[in-house]
Amino acid sequence: MKFVVLPNAAAIGLAVGDVICDLVRKKSDTVLGLATGASPLPTYQRMIDRCKTGEVSFKDVRTFNLDEYCDLPETHPCSYHYFMRKELFDQVGILPEHTHFLDGNTVDEGAESQRYSALIEQNGGIDLQLLGIGRNGHIGFNEPSENFTQESFKVALTDSTIAANSRYFRDIPMPKCAMTMGIGLILRARKIILIATGSEKATAIKAMLEGSVTPRCPASALQKHPEVAVFLDPAAAALLNEN
Ligand code: GLP
Repeated sequence: MKFVVLPNAAAIGLAVGDVICDLVRKKSDTVLGLATGASPLPTYQRMIDRCKTGEVSFKDVRTFNLDEYCDLPETHPCSYHYFMRKELFDQVGILPEHTHFLDGNTVDEGAESQRYSALIEQNGGIDLQLLGIGRNGHIGFNEPSENFTQESFKVALTDSTIAANSRYFRDIPMPKCAMTMGIGLILRARKIILIATGSEKATAIKAMLEGSVTPRCPASALQKHPEVAVFLDPAAAALLNEN
């Protein structure tokens, strides 16, 4: 897996934002797999900035988000639907009907998983999947477990993830479950970019890049994909042998 260390989150945002904008300029109906969390925010800002100068249009882009909390209305400010609208979609004019999410409130997770995989397929598959990484090596909400998952599924969040993300939930308790794309579905993207910054990601990054491929570190599955680029800041790269 190829990795690059840049000075800080802002530099990573410029670099990754430019990769995405250049892709969209070449293929206007690019299918993007998108992530939430702090890691992709500078990338989204770069996309917004280049859209505002008229260098790139997201009018025909289709998006599929990685995951969504269960038992949380889509309109709640802590939902990933809300996050994406606020941090990207509303600012670059992506048509709402071109943006897709798993339904965290589904009563039939199997049917919801099939719907999402089929929809991705009908749109020609994901051209570029953007990922962050959890402190425990999760991607999307694929928590460390005994097996790699394939399609989308409902997951019980681990204590580590709840501890990391509960800072966003001030007025309600953080949901304990989420719907997430599975590892198999993530690996079907043609290209993948993973962003990690900060020392709290260093252990997960070392396990992902230098450890064995194991569902105990879900991100290690990316070693099996031929087109992954990992963007790190010096703190996230600090434990790597080659660094
Ligand atoms: C959440 C999301 C992940 C994201 C992770 C890291 O758990 N489900 O997709 O990668 O947070 O978030 P951050 O970038 O804020 O560290």
